[in-house]
Amino acid sequence: MQHPPREQWHSRLGFVLATVGSAVGLGNVWRFPTMVSRRGGGAFLLVYLVAVAAVGIPLMMAELSLGRRSQTNVVDAFESTSASSGWGLIGALAALAALTILSYYAVIAGWTLIYGYLGMTGQLANLSSDALGQLFSYLTQNTLWPLIAQAMFLGMSAAIVAAGVTAGIERYSTILLPTMVILLLVLLVRAILLPGAAEGVRWFLRLDLQAVNFGVALEAMGQVFFSFSLGMGAVLTYGSYLSRDDDIPQNSLLITTADVVIALLAGLVVVSALFAFGIDLDVGAGLIFVALPSVFNTLPASALWATLFFLSLTFASLTSLISFMEVLNAVVMEKLNWSRRASVVAVSAGVFIGGIPSALAEGPLANITPAGMNLLDFFDFVASNAMLPLSGLLTVIFVGWVWGIESAGEEITRGAINLPAAIRHIWGIIIKYAAPLVLAYILINGIWGN
Ligand code: PHE
Repeated sequence: MQHPPREQWHSRLGFVLATVGSAVGLGNVWRFPTMVSRRGGGAFLLVYLVAVAAVGIPLMMAELSLGRRSQTNVVDAFESTSASSGWGLIGALAALAALTILSYYAVIAGWTLIYGYLGMTGQLANLSSDALGQLFSYLTQNTLWPLIAQAMFLGMSAAIVAAGVTAGIERYSTILLPTMVILLLVLLVRAILLPGAAEGVRWFLRLDLQAVNFGVALEAMGQVFFSFSLGMGAVLTYGSYLSRDDDIPQNSLLITTADVVIALLAGLVVVSALFAFGIDLDVGAGLIFVALPSVFNTLPASALWATLFFLSLTFASLTSLISFMEVLNAVVMEKLNWSRRASVVAVSAGVFIGGIPSALAEGPLANITPAGMNLLDFFDFVASNAMLPLSGLLTVIFVGWVWGIESAGEEITRGAINLPAAIRHIWGIIIKYAAPLVLAYILINGIWGN
């Protein structure tokens, strides 16, 4: 079958928004605030910013340049930039990571959709904290609801991805991401006006230097890696739709800054809301689906706040999910020579089936607990602690030693002619030596340190 020519982003802004959309997700809202609060506040933030500059931006540049250079899907990108064969396996691992994450991320994202609906229809209002806890248990332990929510969410992502790179992914990211930021800003104003919020913000940003040590610095790097959606082919695939004259270093700086700013925004919302009510900053689902809704319920117009919050989460998850889906979609489409539509249908069906164990993890499959975790947590653990760092590690080794710093550096300076030679040099040292060490440590620590 004859394929239309490979698509490219319509505008630079569209590319940046789509990539920021991939980076901004549930991780920004429920992992980042907890991490900052527990690990020394402002002191952790400083370490985080160093990690962004030292690891995050260089890795983002590496993935974008590999994608743009090869102008192809994550598996073929590795094949086409190496002289010997077999390197595509790294891309296959990245795609497997994307598949694994998609399978459980769609389930959680599905809950945000249900909560958005419940918020909008006023059904969350007037529920006590206990009732909210019961509602969450009921929904997650049910057999049908998680599956319906997951299917609806995958359906929305599939519709966007099927429309194509510019008419689907770029177009919707350009709408969804800015809307999400506006919703967050509105929530921030509301949260900061709560009595006691200022104290929370002060505590969130406190400079507790003693809380920072080597382990915390590594944790910061792990979060940077996770938050920027690295190691799963998403950034690489989005980079493959870039044109030759786009400025990769400048775009990387923009994307990473936006992700950090949005994470901070979300952090301020969550911390000031919870602090004002003296609620402990618990990590994960309890924070999002129980603690925050109970805070909203103490405010006038509670339905409005719950709706804004869950809509912003839904939008944030949606733009992440479409990026993971596009990773797999590009592989299927280009490897099997299928049409975009056929490939999206196959990928979505595969992800839905792959996500069933996660959807039922608290319900009928609650007794299956590999390594002491329920299935959803288990998939999250394997993907975040093993697959992502491993595929990230192999990617930097590949760029530094196989594709080669010279060729990669040439690709990076294409479209960035004013990039100082010193920066390119430092970038090479980071990718060749520092990043592999850091990622190897994160991998070892992620698997055995827990
Ligand atoms: N970067 C996104 C987030 O912070 C998406 C993501 C999800 C990345 C799961 C890795 C794992 O939520």
